[in-house]
Amino acid sequence: MSSTIESLQSEERFFSAPSQFTNSAYIQDASFYSKASTDRLKFWADRASELKWSKKWNTVLTWERPFASWFEGGELNASVNCLDVHMETHRKHKAAIIWEGENGEVRTYTYTQLHREVCKFAYQLKHTFKVSKGDRVTLYMPMIPELAIAVLACARIGAVHSVVFGGFSAKSLKDRLLDSESKVLITADGGFRRGSSILLKDIVDEALAQRDTLVQSVIVVKHTQNDIGWIQGRDADYATIMANSKQQTEAEAMQSEDILFILYTSGTTGKPKGIIHTTGGYMTHAKYSAKAVFDLKDEDVYFCTADIGWITGHTYLVYGPLSNGATCLMYEGAPDYPNKDRFWELVEKHQVSILYTAPTAIRAFMKWGDAYPKAHDLSSLRLLGTVGEPINPEAWMWYYEHIGGKRCPIVDTWWQTETGGIMISNLVGIQDMKPGSAGLPLPGISAQVLDDTGDVVTEGGGLLSITEPWPSMLRGVWGDPQRFEDVYWSEFSTYFAGDGATVDKDGYFKILGRVDDVLNVAGHRIGTMEVESALVAYSDVAEAAVVGVVDEIKGQAIVAYVILKEGIEKTDSLKTRLFSHVSVEIGAIARPKLIVFTADLPKTRSGKIMRRILKAIANGEPVGDTTTLANPGIVEVLVGT
Ligand code: PRX
Repeated sequence: MSSTIESLQSEERFFSAPSQFTNSAYIQDASFYSKASTDRLKFWADRASELKWSKKWNTVLTWERPFASWFEGGELNASVNCLDVHMETHRKHKAAIIWEGENGEVRTYTYTQLHREVCKFAYQLKHTFKVSKGDRVTLYMPMIPELAIAVLACARIGAVHSVVFGGFSAKSLKDRLLDSESKVLITADGGFRRGSSILLKDIVDEALAQRDTLVQSVIVVKHTQNDIGWIQGRDADYATIMANSKQQTEAEAMQSEDILFILYTSGTTGKPKGIIHTTGGYMTHAKYSAKAVFDLKDEDVYFCTADIGWITGHTYLVYGPLSNGATCLMYEGAPDYPNKDRFWELVEKHQVSILYTAPTAIRAFMKWGDAYPKAHDLSSLRLLGTVGEPINPEAWMWYYEHIGGKRCPIVDTWWQTETGGIMISNLVGIQDMKPGSAGLPLPGISAQVLDDTGDVVTEGGGLLSITEPWPSMLRGVWGDPQRFEDVYWSEFSTYFAGDGATVDKDGYFKILGRVDDVLNVAGHRIGTMEVESALVAYSDVAEAAVVGVVDEIKGQAIVAYVILKEGIEKTDSLKTRLFSHVSVEIGAIARPKLIVFTADLPKTRSGKIMRRILKAIANGEPVGDTTTLANPGIVEVLVGT
């Protein structure tokens, strides 16, 4: 890990939100920060009070590092807070979800309609499929409304949902089914992506072929209508079970610390971690942060482009906006299908006012050119957001000028699967924006940059840490409590985020990226070990080392250095087989950009692969000191490849 993390870019430009924006922003008063820091627990109790609790809590926080318990004694239900709370208000017939399929089909669900669908599906899960409180249910679905319905139906009956992104392979799905011990799997026949259908049900059948998971029932939404296999007694058709279903209007009263969901994410070992989030604290932060950061108003049409398979989709497409009664646009497909102006067409057609997307998408839009957004009326937009990876100032400026028309403020939001919600972001009603900087920790959140010894860096670079417990913090790693302590709590006495960051004289944080062996490819976290394990699982491969290289669009791309077993020929066709092997083992998102066959890898005398050196070679940078290597000669060979 680097002890001297420095940011080479110094950004002096500041931008302010227009006054009509700041005059109506939900948070305009800078004393919000001081109130939060003066009495942090009262601040969070006030935020929690904005939710509907069937029983009020006794204690705001019990903290025995690293175990937090928020709002103990309180009872609530997340689905009630997203749906039932709006039934007696003016939002009853307001659009909750406007969904557009890749083929242009549009479906709109009002809060009443969404409530009805969720209650029906919850009834089926509970009574037909015998799902009880605490049971795990895995969702492996395309971006269709039934995914949001299934998430909320699980929450309604107290089942723990585990959403697995639809781009993962049969093997990745199976690993997650085994780890979570799910007994019900909800899927679809397929999903549309760039005009063709992704055959999800086939992947499900492959994952379940050996019958070694605990899955007893597979509920299938027929969306693409492609031919699928059907196993009588195991598979159930969503439309049929919903046709005359009763409604589960009564919701399970969940203890504040009951688990709401698990979501798998990559770490530095080959095995993904099931990050645990509980109900009361997560919902408190989801509701508060969505309202504070996006300044969500009743009139807004809010478009979060993330898939529900990732944490951004959980918190800022489902729980955060719906608990605030917002209208969300949900889009199924790719941004460049059928043309590269699809997002701008969606913005114009649905009068989107808030757009939340990823830097990788912005860089692609930039590359495609401004003619695409220019061809559309984007005047409905009033606020823009980014998430998932550092945004370079050029991309920020492009977003600001060409999408926001220099009129829309931008929120650059730093957070993680583990943090549950946004931790660092400028609040546009109060602070000016600095391109490339996420800004200040939200009121109620304490973040600091620490040096290697854990001392606070007041201006300069170091490692990002969250220094006080927060309500939506992860509560553990599913089935692996030791990993929770080792990964997040052994570096410092406070939470170790795994990111390098700088803090400047104004207190603004700029996130520099991961300092561990986790890559960020197009905003997706991929552990180098996961890809290495997949490569080594291939019979011809003896050893593999994976590093990230800078990629203009994706931020980072994967380069794999591979040592083949004795006597195996280094052919292009083997490379092709290895590329597809990684896609099959993990999913297409983990497919390397480049595979380099090599006879050896740079190693220390104790046999540890020096990824730092490989990374420098792959990026065409100076390799630095190689004297600690057992085999320095390999460096020259690799530089020449
Ligand atoms: O490295 C940081 C980067 O994404 C990581 C978290 O990934 P994940 O758990 O998949 O969640 C992504 C969506 C919240 C972080 O450790 N990251 C996230 N947001 C930003 C970011 N890096 C820089 N700037 C951001 N705004």
